[in-house]
Amino acid sequence: MTDIHSQKIIILDFGSQTTQLIARRVREEKVYCEIHPFNVDLEKIKAASPRGIILSGGPSSVYDRDAPAISAEIFDMGIPILGICYGMQLTCHLLGGKVEHSDHREYGNARLLIHDTSVLFHGISSAPDTHQVWMSHGDRIEELPRGFKVTAESETCPVAAMRHESLPIFGVQFHPEVIHTAIGNEILANFLFRACGCEPSWTMHSFVETVTAEIRQKVGDGRVICALSGGVDSTVTALLVNRAIGERLTCIFVNNGLLRKNEAETVLSFLKQLNLNVQYVDAEKRFLSLLDGVSDPEKKRKIIGQEFIKVFEEEANRIGEVNYLAQGTLYPDVIESVSFKGPSATIKSHHNVGGLPEVMKLELIEPLRELFKDEVRKVGEELGMPSDLIYRHPFPGPGLAIRTLGTITPERLAILREADAIVLEEMKASGWYGKVWQSFAVLLPIQTVGVMGDERTYDHVIALRCVDSLDAMTADWSKLPHELLGRISNRIINEVKGVNRVCYDISSKPPATIEWE
Ligand code: XMP
Repeated sequence: MTDIHSQKIIILDFGSQTTQLIARRVREEKVYCEIHPFNVDLEKIKAASPRGIILSGGPSSVYDRDAPAISAEIFDMGIPILGICYGMQLTCHLLGGKVEHSDHREYGNARLLIHDTSVLFHGISSAPDTHQVWMSHGDRIEELPRGFKVTAESETCPVAAMRHESLPIFGVQFHPEVIHTAIGNEILANFLFRACGCEPSWTMHSFVETVTAEIRQKVGDGRVICALSGGVDSTVTALLVNRAIGERLTCIFVNNGLLRKNEAETVLSFLKQLNLNVQYVDAEKRFLSLLDGVSDPEKKRKIIGQEFIKVFEEEANRIGEVNYLAQGTLYPDVIESVSFKGPSATIKSHHNVGGLPEVMKLELIEPLRELFKDEVRKVGEELGMPSDLIYRHPFPGPGLAIRTLGTITPERLAILREADAIVLEEMKASGWYGKVWQSFAVLLPIQTVGVMGDERTYDHVIALRCVDSLDAMTADWSKLPHELLGRISNRIINEVKGVNRVCYDISSKPPATIEWE
């Protein structure tokens, strides 16, 4: 079996907003890569023996007092290096060239004239042809370090790209990772395959094979439990562990009474289809009685989280000796990136089963911690998951509790469930379900006046929330067609007893959040 990590690229993050995008592009070329903060120990890099290193862009100037820097030793390691934007300026600065400081930012599209089509620009036409590239920089290179030559220029940037005459060190002032750089993928591919000698071997098929073997080895004869929510991350995690150790994985699916309409039945039948060993726990009454009269969002979350741990522990005890907990943590949750404020800020604890491993003294298995969401979906396909399940919208652990604003009662939950089911039905029927990140209904804690037939009504309000997002860190409200909004509103008001008004939430995140509580 090939080791999928044997051809690794390391991306050093200098704080660019597009660092993750660089990683995505590298992986799209089927090469495995990892993001590390710029100040990672050089010894650690050496130990990882990467095939190549990419220095990301970043908001700083090399002349800033606290400018993020690396040791110039990195250029003596004999590993091919590509500096992007700030990464190129830093390369120049560290190797004795001159960077010109400017308070003026060049931002947007530029035309690139290529003079040297060796390595990085191989196969791309040279001047007088021009190519669209995307720039975002203040400083620029004024004088090259010794041994370097200019390989491309733009109208405003005489050194738009450079390379060392004999060493595999390259720099580009523009951003090859963004879509506006039309030749970006070719440039990155040239770096990976021509400069670094990588092979395109990082595929989801090879990932599944490798990770299955790793889990098998780690778990030995042990037992694993996994909390299943029916979402794609936990299901793919369970399928991978199941593939490795079969019946010694027990999945626990807790119905907390806060699921969507028919959710428990649908999810359960999916999971059974996938041959998972699932223990279903109907804990609806327990959760609802604890939530009785509670309207504070944080209290709701706490109660649900704590009760979940209790239920889960009880079920686990029934299974007997368990050694591991499998969890669907993804790569964006674990990247120690300087783009965010340190490692702790990047860990979204609410995405995991917070507290469980400590309480139960279990060791974690997180087979997806190297993957981006779209890669998880590809693994799901590889493992035979039905596409309905793979492309489901995310659903929060506290479920409808944080979408039933105010107090939670069976009656109010029933109203929300019906409204929500209509939203999903219409989103799917119109083809919009697959185009948005999430779409759902929220029951507001107010009643408003309406008129139905000849009668005055005083009924509930449903807010419709539908957002576009890449990773849920930021989001914008989806521009759904008016006819679709109208149809959803009409159906909810006509079909859901107790609702006489529907509103559409047009707030972005930030400053709002996706969920209302
Ligand atoms: P917010 O509301 O923070 O949501 O913008 C971002 C994403 O996270 C989901 N979310 C949760 N998921 N437990 C979860 O498993 C939670 O407590 C939770 N809160 C929010 C939300 O649905 C969105 O996709």
